[in-house]
Amino acid sequence: MNNHPIGVFDSGVGGTSIWKAINELLPNESSIYLADSINAPYGPKGKEAITNLCIKNTELLLGNGCKLIVVACNTATTNAIGYLRNNYNVPFIGIEPAIKPAALQTKTKAVGILATQGTLSSELFSKTSGKFANNINVVEQVGEGIVNLIESGKLYSEEMTALLITYLQPMLNANIDYLVLGCSHYPYLIPQLIELLPEHVTIIDSGEAVARQTKAVLKQNDLLNFKNPKSEHLFYTNGKLNVMQQILDTDYTVQYLDF
Ligand code: SIN
Repeated sequence: MNNHPIGVFDSGVGGTSIWKAINELLPNESSIYLADSINAPYGPKGKEAITNLCIKNTELLLGNGCKLIVVACNTATTNAIGYLRNNYNVPFIGIEPAIKPAALQTKTKAVGILATQGTLSSELFSKTSGKFANNINVVEQVGEGIVNLIESGKLYSEEMTALLITYLQPMLNANIDYLVLGCSHYPYLIPQLIELLPEHVTIIDSGEAVARQTKAVLKQNDLLNFKNPKSEHLFYTNGKLNVMQQILDTDYTVQYLDF
């Protein structure tokens, strides 16, 4: 089992930001990545629809022998990880907005969170926010349209710049000093966000924390791969190959799969 791949899925190409962090920390591990771009974005969908998409992705990964599954999508995690953990017999790693470290470190007592509607209105998010950011001004912003632009190859575009300026303004008015990226697509915005934000604002995403958690859970379950001299990575999308290939920016070839 130890040489079986790790499964990673997302509503699209964004979860590759998480995959990159995992691959860096765990170079021995092989992986299979599913980009469910045809159904992106998951953010505006209801809990049941999101759960059904997660079931489809999970069963495909399990059918290909995955030993652990990383749900590399905040919306999918906050809406469906409980269901997945209760119904399948492999460990699941989720990704949640890093609201806790931001709330613990803010000096201005104001933090911004950019996420999808599905994440911000989920029970899991309101619990975490209530627990760790009770005395903090949390400026929540739905990043409507951002995932669609990334999925259609418009990461760097006038439309994206206009959206970001609009979404950041209320946070800047509230004097945030931390911006939490609550969607796995958003780390790809970091170069643009750095240009738009004042220097004192720190951007936090969850990639490294998810990678550390993946390693810890593999270890706990005796599933780490110590032997693999050459890991293998398979990338599948049911969306546009060129967009995924460009975002992934590695030598691995992305393949189309109808799922
Ligand atoms: C989405 O599918 O709406 C975005 C993915 C995420 O929440 O990480």
